[in-house]
Amino acid sequence: MFNDKKVVFSGVQPSGNLTIGNYLGAIRNFSAFSEEYHCYYCVVDEHAITVRQVPADLRRRTYETLALYIACGLDPEKNTLFVQSHVPAHAELGWILDCYTMFGELSRMTQFKDKSAKNADNINAGLFTYPALMAADILLYQTELVPVGVDQKQHLEIARDIAERFNGIYGETFVVPEPYIPPTTGGAKIMSLAEPTKKMSKSDENENAVVRILDSRDTIIRKFKRAVTDSGSEIRCGEGKEGITNLIGIYSCFTGKTTEEIEREFDGKGYGDFKLAVGETCADALTPVREEFDRLIADKAYLESVMVQGAEAAYKSARKTMSKVRRKIGFIELKK
Ligand code: TYM
Repeated sequence: MFNDKKVVFSGVQPSGNLTIGNYLGAIRNFSAFSEEYHCYYCVVDEHAITVRQVPADLRRRTYETLALYIACGLDPEKNTLFVQSHVPAHAELGWILDCYTMFGELSRMTQFKDKSAKNADNINAGLFTYPALMAADILLYQTELVPVGVDQKQHLEIARDIAERFNGIYGETFVVPEPYIPPTTGGAKIMSLAEPTKKMSKSDENENAVVRILDSRDTIIRKFKRAVTDSGSEIRCGEGKEGITNLIGIYSCFTGKTTEEIEREFDGKGYGDFKLAVGETCADALTPVREEFDRLIADKAYLESVMVQGAEAAYKSARKTMSKVRRKIGFIELKK
């Protein structure tokens, strides 16, 4: 059914409650590819354990992330939705690609540097080789396009380098993937509401810094009301106005209005009016997602059936790539 279609792959870590950064930068854009591409959207639980997780929380968030994919409009009949650890080929290819990834390139990864600084007591080898596993996720499915936020750009570059290196040694084996990153004004990097020079991150300990997709309407509005802005009063983008610039970006994502239209709409109005408008608009947009999520999360049996169906479909495709890779590198394939 999918054979002639090009492939889209993306993943989200179940390492925290998802934010509007994950939504606007990535998940919201996923469904646009469903008709034209064969889409694989993965809950990357193996990546999540590079940072210590409470097992019960990891399990719960894995169900929740899958339910959110569906609540955000991804139809399991039109997309392969699955959990990474259900398809062992990810770990297998991850190891193989470790052997084609250089210490020097991994050392340059900014996410590794950030996460090592945050988890100084647990700088494990998995955290370091994380980009090779991410390359494996993508290359396993002969992916053409990877929709992600701008923070994943460096990981995409290394995935391309690994693919090209492997192809250079063994001949064409992997499709070299392209990132699909929305424009800066289109959600590529949503900033923290407390420190608008920093990315909004699901693992931020300051709850006021992040708006979660599943926050209640009141919580969303309250968080936007408290968002850090500058001492000025004009609703304009610009240097020194990172807080307002971020809020304009978020409002633009939810309304489809341009920066100029927004600046005109709020000309002469104060920060208080603007923050309320952003909060209400965001809350209104997320209400149907939350309602659909509540319905789905109550039905574990259904979510597990999606996991089984997704893992089977993913395995079918991954198996073909693995067989090719094994042959090329000189492993013996036993006939069954
Ligand atoms: P993760 O789980 O941190 O984030 C999931 C997706 O959300 C995007 N994102 C953001 N976009 C805009 N503004 C933000 N503040 C923001 N925060 C997060 C991320 O760019 C990402 O697209 N390494 C990946 C997971 C992964 C993956 C893959 C992605 C593993 N394997 C293969 C694509 C393909 C990560 O940690 O995403």
